Parts: sequence; C-alpha cells; structure tokens
Amino acid sequence: MKKLLVTVVAATLWSVAGVQAQTLSISCGAVGVELKLCQEGVDAWSAKTGVDVRVVSTPNSSTERLALYQQILAAEADDIDLFQVDVVWPGILANHFVDLAAHAKAAGDHFPALIRNNTIDGRLVALPWWTDAGVLYYRADLLEKHGAKPPATWQEMTETAREIVAAERAAGRDGLWGFVWQGKAYEGLTCNALEWLDSFGAGAIVSRDGDITVNNPKAAAALKLAASWVNEISPPGVLNYDEEASRGVFQSGKAVFMRNWPYAWALANSDDSAIRGKVGVVALPKGGAGGKHTGTLGGWNVAVSRYSKHPGLAIDLALYLTSQAEQKRRAIAASYNPTYPALYQDAEVLAANPFFGQLYETFSNAVARPSGVTGDDYNRVSAAFWTAVHSALSGQQPADTALADLERKLKRIGRRARW
Ligand code: GLC
Repeated sequence: MKKLLVTVVAATLWSVAGVQAQTLSISCGAVGVELKLCQEGVDAWSAKTGVDVRVVSTPNSSTERLALYQQILAAEADDIDLFQVDVVWPGILANHFVDLAAHAKAAGDHFPALIRNNTIDGRLVALPWWTDAGVLYYRADLLEKHGAKPPATWQEMTETAREIVAAERAAGRDGLWGFVWQGKAYEGLTCNALEWLDSFGAGAIVSRDGDITVNNPKAAAALKLAASWVNEISPPGVLNYDEEASRGVFQSGKAVFMRNWPYAWALANSDDSAIRGKVGVVALPKGGAGGKHTGTLGGWNVAVSRYSKHPGLAIDLALYLTSQAEQKRRAIAASYNPTYPALYQDAEVLAANPFFGQLYETFSNAVARPSGVTGDDYNRVSAAFWTAVHSALSGQQPADTALADLERKLKRIGRRARW
C-alpha cells in the first residue's frame, strides 16, 4: 500500500514537473519591435500557465520566412509548435496546421474577411493576430515649410517630392530624398506594386474568377510612373530596400515621403527618432483621375502545427496572443493594427494611433493579393509578378513588355493549376 502511494505521488509530481518544464516554441518575426512584442506576450502567458516557451526569431523577409517554414513543415518537424503566418499563406500551408474552427468562438469577433481568408476547405487554419495596409508617411514639417499639402495623387506626390528635395538640397541638405518604399525583389514589392496597380484601377493581377488581368494599359502606366521615381525622387538603392531599409532612411530624416505599414508610426515617434512629432500619415495617393486611394492588405496570424506534441497548450497560447486584450496592448505599444473592429473605437488605441480612426476605410477595404484564388500557387504567382515589376523598375524591360511576358508566365501556371 505504502509503495503504491509513493508511486502515485511520484508520478503526479513527475507529471506536474513535466508540465512546468514543458517547452513550447513559437516562431516570430523580428521586423522593428516585432520580436520584443511577441516575447512580452509569450512571457505573460508563461507567467499565467507556468509553461516555458521558446521564441524563435525568423528572417525579416516574408519570402525567406516562407521558404524556411516550408522546409520545417515538409519534414513534419515537431520543434516549432506555433507559427506566425502571413495573410497570404493559409492556402499554401493549410495542410500542416491544426483546425481551430472549434475555438473560433473563444477567439472572438475578428474582421469576418480575415476569418474567411484563414478558412481553407472549411478548416480555420490560423487566428488573426494583426492586420496591415500600406500607408503614406510624410514629413509634416517639410510640407508645411514649403507650403505643400499631403498629396491626393501619385503625380502630386512626385511633384511635391521633387520641389521639396530641390529646395532643401539647394540649401545644403544633400542627403535628402523624396520617396522611399520597398523595391527589392520579394513579397514586399508585390505589395507596393499591387497598390500602384489598384490605385490606377488596373486590377489585382489575377481576378477572383482566376482571369489573368495584369497585362493592361493602366498597369503599364502605373509601372512607368514608378520606374520614373528610381534615381529621381527615390535613391537608386530603393531597388534593394525592404520595410526596415526604407524606415531607416525616413526615420533618420533623409526622405520626405515613405510607403510603409503602420508599425513604422510608433517607431517614427519613439524617443530616439530624428523625426519624432514631425510625421503625418495619409492613405496612399490615387492614380490620377479615375483612380482611387488604396492599400494592400497585409497582416499576420498564429497557426498551430499538426506536428506539435502539445497541441492543447499551443492552442491556448494562440488564443491568448490573438485575444482582444493582447492586441490592444500591441496597438498602444507599437501601432500593430488590431483584427477586432471594436478596438478601432477604443479611446486609448486611437490616442496612440490617431490615423487608425482616420484611415479606417483603408484598413477595412484594403486590396487583397490574389492568394485566395491561386491557393498553393500563390508564391509562384507573386514571384513572377515581383520579378516582372523589378525588371521594369530597373529599366531591364519596358513596362508593357514585362507585363506581356508576365501574362504568358501566369497563364502557364494557371493552366497547370486550373484556377
Ligand atoms: C508585411 C505584411 C505582410 C507582407 C509583408 C511583405 O509584413 O503584413 O502581409 O507579406 O509585409 O513584406
């Protein structure tokens, strides 16, 4: 009897200790303060549950991150339990993730479009963590000094940038540029270029019905305008810039305008920023008459790996990280856009990020990349698009030739995949 008791007690202690020492791991991005924010959220959950969590940092580039995830998941490796997943990946990675549909209620009232985006063949494969849309940052002090207004069209932006740079350079500020953005050949360029196309009314590369619409005169006009910026209002190096490179230039005071995601707002106004208090944010300009203000839909989700040895705990952590309270904390601390419409009416969130309220339309009607219709071919489609755009921007090919070649390439991909 005594022996049995000892065994039971020992087994119980062992299992308690087992839970406490149990280590989950989550892969997080490291753009700006992303890693720190992830770590803080994870630490709060660990303090509550006593479960140890390892935070694994991944490459900044969404493209490189996807390649890494595909390797880990193809090997069915159990060493990462939770993945931070881009809004365009559910169709690519769905089969590797646990269905969270049973927890959708606990997850609360996210933007319905995001839940739809993350639902593949009836399975909810990831919970929304934050949403993104491209916006235009400008130096309010410089625009005021030169009597300029925030631009309504790309043409106006181009002219304002040119005038301010000319005047400032003449006054000795040699290092100033007009406009920085993400021109490197990767997913970020797909986001920037989709905004140019959409702002000109040139469609979204592939229509919802699977028609390849990208080769059209408005798209060519949009690309020609963007190509004219390189080495004029934008530094030649812009063709190798990602989000952080453009933020580095803007935040050190060396550019009048910047295209970036909302996270750059909190950092631009941080204590060590050279432009603290001098920045405004507006919707991206229209592509001239008949065009519209737009922004590409971005954002990230949390998914639980099917190969996790602790799916129950991992789901609990996913629910915690994506909860309304945690998203509120992230919005106030670092301008990460919540995926709960209700938080756009929260006074503290709006005080920290006034543009969340002013640009609500941009955030709720952002233009989606064609990841839904192209499913697990999305990355191939996007890579073909950013390659064509990059060749037009660098002058390797005229815009219309690049678009005609791209159309042929996309038709081949689409025929094989039957979308
Ligand atoms: C941001 C967006 C993401 C996009 C990436 C491209 O992280 O949230 O959706 O794919 O930028 O660089």
